[in-house]
Amino acid sequence: MKVLGFNGSPRAKKGITDRILQQFLKGAAEAGAETETVYLAKKKIKFCTGCFSCWLVHPGRCIHKNDDMDELRQMMRRSDMLVYASPVYIDGITAIMKNFMERCMPNAQPFVEIRDGHTRHPLRGKGTRQLKMVVLSTCGFGERDNFDPLLRHMEAAAKNMKVDYLGALIRPMGPFLDVVAQKDPEKVRSIDDAFHQAGFDAVAKGEIGDAVRKAAEAPLMSRDEFIVTLNSIAQSEIEKYSAKKPDR
Ligand SMILES: Cc1cc2nc3c(=O)[nH]c(=O)nc-3n(C[C@H](O)[C@H](O)[C@H](O)COP(=O)(O)O)c2cc1C
Repeated sequence: MKVLGFNGSPRAKKGITDRILQQFLKGAAEAGAETETVYLAKKKIKFCTGCFSCWLVHPGRCIHKNDDMDELRQMMRRSDMLVYASPVYIDGITAIMKNFMERCMPNAQPFVEIRDGHTRHPLRGKGTRQLKMVVLSTCGFGERDNFDPLLRHMEAAAKNMKVDYLGALIRPMGPFLDVVAQKDPEKVRSIDDAFHQAGFDAVAKGEIGDAVRKAAEAPLMSRDEFIVTLNSIAQSEIEKYSAKKPDR
């Protein structure tokens, strides 16, 4: 089985998105999958122009020639499971991830059919293998509902993409994992382990259980503690940088 992870964070390997994605892929590899990561921020992906040429003029082919999308769409076709990993940016996926998803329009056809009681576009390429899909996300705030728009969006996208959607794993307060690890390394280890286990289960069992999902999103600290911690880090960072600035 081939598992392809798309990292939609502009911070690529430096971000929390990659931390959870790599744990997931490590678990998937231990269950026997061949895994690969695409750092979308490092790829050249032009914007969709909305010309519909890929549907009507040259079916299945985009008008853009000199970018990385042809290669990425080929990689998708060779995969069995796609992992979309994006941090929450302004309550949704990043612009990088959205841009990539829009450029997958050539994968669909202009015709319309009814699927799951809803009008949808049939996919291109008969007999292509049934893809599985997983979503991973992290955000700065602690409330679970910060993920609601992103999760709703990706669930809808999964239905249109006709994939077997295994669901999402979320990590609130992602940037605070290392802060908490200094005081309570065991708590953070069990969170990392949950993403790892999810990757293993997704490949070995074709599903991710509620217990693993819950462990991945386990609370890091109370809201009051979060406010004090974040405000004090923000203040000391501002002071640190202002001390480094040359006098104007
Ligand atoms: C432009 C921007 C918008 C963001 N919007 C949100 C948001 O709406 N809600 C939230 O909880 N965190 C938000 N965050 C915080 C990120 O989700 C958080 O820092 C996350 O760890 C970034 O992922 P990365 O570490 O992989 O880059 C935002 C960060 C940036 C830079």
